[in-house]
Amino acid sequence: MSTLIIENPCQLQGTVNISCAKNAILPVIAASLLTEDKCTLEEVAALEDVKVMVEVVNSLGAEVNLNKDNTLEIAASNIVNHDTAYELIRKMRASFLIMGPMLARVGKIRISLPGGCAIGSRPIDLHLKGFSAMGANITLGHGYIEAQADKLKGESIYLDFPSVGATENIMMAACLAEGMTIIENAAEEPEIVDLANFLSKMGAKIKGAGTDTIRIEGVQRLKGTTHVAIPDRIEAGTFMMAAAATRGDVLVDGVVPEHVKPITAKLKEMGVEVFEYEKSIRVKATERLKSVDIKTMPYPGFPTDMQSPIMSAVCVAKGTSVITETVFENRFMHINELKLMGAKIKVDGRSAIIEGVERLSGAKVKATDLRAGAALIISGLCAEGRTEISEVYHIDRGYINIEEKMRKLGANIIRRE
Ligand code: UD1
Repeated sequence: MSTLIIENPCQLQGTVNISCAKNAILPVIAASLLTEDKCTLEEVAALEDVKVMVEVVNSLGAEVNLNKDNTLEIAASNIVNHDTAYELIRKMRASFLIMGPMLARVGKIRISLPGGCAIGSRPIDLHLKGFSAMGANITLGHGYIEAQADKLKGESIYLDFPSVGATENIMMAACLAEGMTIIENAAEEPEIVDLANFLSKMGAKIKGAGTDTIRIEGVQRLKGTTHVAIPDRIEAGTFMMAAAATRGDVLVDGVVPEHVKPITAKLKEMGVEVFEYEKSIRVKATERLKSVDIKTMPYPGFPTDMQSPIMSAVCVAKGTSVITETVFENRFMHINELKLMGAKIKVDGRSAIIEGVERLSGAKVKATDLRAGAALIISGLCAEGRTEISEVYHIDRGYINIEEKMRKLGANIIRRE
């Protein structure tokens, strides 16, 4: 199993290019099951999670080619299977996103309860409530869900919480349902808008994506299309935070500045200079960061996926910061690892109180989940001595060539296999 080794503090300098968003590509791959035509996705980052999603749709009968030029072709002309392998679904929660497309296209699916990062219980009740309201017959047992629907029917669905996955799953199912589906209290994340754009190019009739009410009028069939997913706002945010924490000067290129606004706002509050351009953002920090209070919220609030990276930054800020996690109930596993590096953190329920220290010290730590791993890299870049991060496979699920990108900015980081 590989390890990332970081030696001594550095100041990141230079330009980093951001890849396509993992959380946009995964639902788009699932949505390709809605048509028998070929869909072509361009500029796809060959992340581990993307490879899992490719295996999932392939296991159902779709022909999939991930080419060397990062083009992903998916042709689900024949869906031969509606039973998904337990091992694949357990690996990644997002594989559950095939449920909506499968119900809409073939009217049945057997799928195990999903896995993914161990960041709380992460139920799927909102997805299931939506499908039930649309007329699907759902049974649960032995860790599996079986669902069947001859023809889904449009319905008004109010989500108790604006779940990203439930909004996407229901939106995809609704595209081929009979009549109008209205999703209220829908998630407003940019990835929802990207999926809606992809579905619209396939011929779906969707209005309101990016607001809390989405209206989908079902159509008879969808056609193939070509798509480039939006840039990864969390990868961009991670590099923005790393630049700030190391008091560096980095141009984060290939982003949509609007998508990272909550991150930009916090960086400015921390005393960092942030320059926004059309498709890039420059982050320049010359002084020690100021402490800041943060509460994670659904978009356009501060993203939960940036909670651990910003915690690493405030660990070396001047003063005391309070970070409150409201989206997931168990997303503080990185704290024990940060403490091994000399961070001063106390947990009080869903809040972490962080007293900034001048410098962290390198230690052997482990990535407990994807974003926790990214946070440890940032901390390693601010630490005296040697940091060794194990369980790097978590990081590879969502960041492509992270050590190469960091090295190009001057970080002393290597991967040992
Ligand atoms: C997506 C992102 C993930 C991000 C999260 C929140 C993908 C592939 N993953 O995950 O990176 O951290 O959004 O921005 O896009 N919930 C329920 N019942 C449900 C569904 C969700 O109670 O049926 C709860 C979850 O337990 C969690 C909260 O709602 O507490 C948010 O989850 P959700 O928005 O669904 O996140 P994901 O789609 O899993």
